[in-house]
Amino acid sequence: MPIIKVEDKNIEIEDGANLRTSLISNGYQITSTCGGCASCGLCVVAIKSGDENLSEFTFEEKQILGNVFHITKERLSCQTFVNGDIEVDVSMHQQKSNSNSKNKTIRRKSGEIPEKVAVERPPKEGGFRRPRAFKPEKENK
Ligand code: FES
Repeated sequence: MPIIKVEDKNIEIEDGANLRTSLISNGYQITSTCGGCASCGLCVVAIKSGDENLSEFTFEEKQILGNVFHITKERLSCQTFVNGDIEVDVSMHQQKSNSNSKNKTIRRKSGEIPEKVAVERPPKEGGFRRPRAFKPEKENK
């Protein structure tokens, strides 16, 4: 059984398992908006070692990532199937989930949603400005 090494953790998976679903089922948050259809390009993971144990690039994967794996070492996890031991870096997904945390709804333990906090803005200087009247450009003859 192949092993995926992620952040000092070894995940044992079935031979030929999908990389994205294997990571998600083991508690790793992999960013995606397409749900694994190879259209959003957000499920990228970096392959640290064992790239020879991965499935070939699909047409859709090449469309999104280009033909630069030898430089970036990145694969779309939703399009990648694992046939042997690999080591992956998913740190970019941890950072994204943290940066989006301000957009999440925060609930208190009691279940009530906190009231909106009024933000005072400084008064605008100069008051209301009327838009300029439209003047057609003069024709140069
Ligand atoms: S999940 Fe959207 S491209 Fe992989």
